[in-house]
Amino acid sequence: MTETVFADDAAIAKAVELLNQGRLVAFPTETVYGLGADAGSAEAVTGIFKAKGRPVDHPLIVHIASSTQLSDWANMVPETAQRLAKRFWPGPLTLILKKRPEVPNEVTGGQDTVGLRIPDNPVALRLLRAFGGGIAAPSANRFKRVSPTQASHVAEELDGLVDLILDGGPCRVGVESTIIDLSGASPLLLRPGSISKAEIEQVLQCELTEISTTNNDTPRAPGQMAVHYAPSTPTRLCPSEQLNDTIRQLAEQGKKIGLLAYRFEWNSSMTIIQLPETAEAYAQGLYAALRELDRQRLDIILVEQPPESNEWHAINDRLKKAATAF
Ligand code: TXA
Ligand code: MG
Repeated sequence: MTETVFADDAAIAKAVELLNQGRLVAFPTETVYGLGADAGSAEAVTGIFKAKGRPVDHPLIVHIASSTQLSDWANMVPETAQRLAKRFWPGPLTLILKKRPEVPNEVTGGQDTVGLRIPDNPVALRLLRAFGGGIAAPSANRFKRVSPTQASHVAEELDGLVDLILDGGPCRVGVESTIIDLSGASPLLLRPGSISKAEIEQVLQCELTEISTTNNDTPRAPGQMAVHYAPSTPTRLCPSEQLNDTIRQLAEQGKKIGLLAYRFEWNSSMTIIQLPETAEAYAQGLYAALRELDRQRLDIILVEQPPESNEWHAINDRLKKAATAF
């Protein structure tokens, strides 16, 4: 059994001790909970892949406490990186930069680049400052599963596989960080997040190319794989206006249906989770809702298609990845 502890000073000290021993500590960030290990230790980082069941060629994000640490990991810190860091860190933004030779290959999945970010969460920052070095951390879920946004989700995923879970309450943002690749000739958006493409473009004063996330078997970012962030229950996106018909048809087939709605109103005995109508609040509750529906032993989870506008971009990206072929 893994212990989950309220993240007070004693718990942070314990976590630092474990990290120094090459062990694994789950901790909150503003996006999702991370599964952390000492990023300077190849052996420690290997433990992350074992616990998650994640292929070793999938690179990890190194979390740091201060921009002054960028040069410990990145070979070259372009001026664009400094501008983005200044504007958005601490915050839900990951920068991909050319790595220093000393950065363990285990961290970068064998690539010559490294992902870096300063998370905007008080527990994460206290842990990073107390530890001193970089903490490599993917989302604290088993490979291909829904990311955890509460300490209890981590326990559901990784009980017995992680040495300590720091409880810092529910995550504020709820979807993973925006990833920008600055290692090439022009900046690329590898994963949409709550910091939008337009906000990044405004700081960079240039256009950002978004790497298409579908039909891509050998992605630069594992988050780009089509099946990711998925509940075990078959999940399908459905436009609001088709929900009534779809629900009727599925009910006629004797299917047990769950619905993740944001606007739709339906009075039946069906399991319904209603999420808020603003993108920000919807994102915050999304993964907990998918987890809750996944627990109900349903035949299918229907997700009411949210709007396709910019502020819903990261949410739609994750929903498309959660939705299975139907
Ligand atoms: O919000 C987040 O980013 C959370 C919290 C814990 O910080 N972390 C997270 O980690 O989502 P993970 O491992 O689930 O997703 C990290 C993504 C992957 O898609 C990975 O491929 C990409 O970052 N990534 C990391 N290093 C990379 C690199 N050098 N080149 C390209 N992609 C990279
Ligand atoms: Mg993940």
